[in-house]
Amino acid sequence: MIVENIRKDLKTRFIGRQIHYFRELSSTQDLAIYMAENSPEAVNGTAILAEHQDKGRGRLKSRWISPNGGIWLSIILKPLMPASKTPLLSFAAALAICETIAEQTSLEPKVKWPNDILINHKKVCGILLDVATKGDRVDYAVIGIGINANVNIDKILPYLDVNKHREVSATSLKNELSGKYLNRPAFLKVLLERFEFYYDRLQKDDGSHIIVNKIKDRLEYNSVTIEQGNRTIEGIIIGLGLDGSLLIKQNDGSSVEVSFGDIRTRE
Ligand code: BTN
Repeated sequence: MIVENIRKDLKTRFIGRQIHYFRELSSTQDLAIYMAENSPEAVNGTAILAEHQDKGRGRLKSRWISPNGGIWLSIILKPLMPASKTPLLSFAAALAICETIAEQTSLEPKVKWPNDILINHKKVCGILLDVATKGDRVDYAVIGIGINANVNIDKILPYLDVNKHREVSATSLKNELSGKYLNRPAFLKVLLERFEFYYDRLQKDDGSHIIVNKIKDRLEYNSVTIEQGNRTIEGIIIGLGLDGSLLIKQNDGSSVEVSFGDIRTRE
């Protein structure tokens, strides 16, 4: 990938103004965390990008397969917000990704709560958020974005553990575009700009409303089964809280709020 093509005419103020690009890396997320902890260079918005990761990390301690052709990106953030609001950073990223995919391709992305992006019911992108706090103050956050862009999907499917955390199969943008390659630098430029827009909104008072409402419109599923440890919650999504939690009407008519756990669609 030619990183100069991302930098050229990038309209952001701070997101992606510093980009560190690697052909090979263990994990952009781990390097971003290391930099945020140790390096004065790790200013707000610093992006780490890799062509290939050999120790890509997913949520819930899963492995993230990251062959050439994908977009493997982590952004270091120094948000001015209470720690309780940080889950919304994932939503800001999810919205930015959905809007960029919709703008740059003919595809219709959806969000699977809390932070997967699906196309035609298959996962095309995962988001990973790591937050370091000091008391209630956020020291730094790293948002990791993995998009199967120009990935040959046969390289990923054999590694999917659908029985563990992933109820959906995977796809890539190239796969959904019948083999057509995505211009990754052009895509990334729009993505960084959109993400900065929503990140700015989040730090304003009305930002959470806007982001939560927009995510609501993109939610993939109505009927859900949530697994939280050994508890299973089944019902219909009736809303999203301003902290990103899910409001579910259970089959017995009672409502329950869920802020973590894995999600499955109803058979
Ligand atoms: C998920 O489990 O769905 C989240 C996947 C996040 C993968 C991205 S790729 C860039 C960054 N570096 C990593 O090691 N993981 C994240």
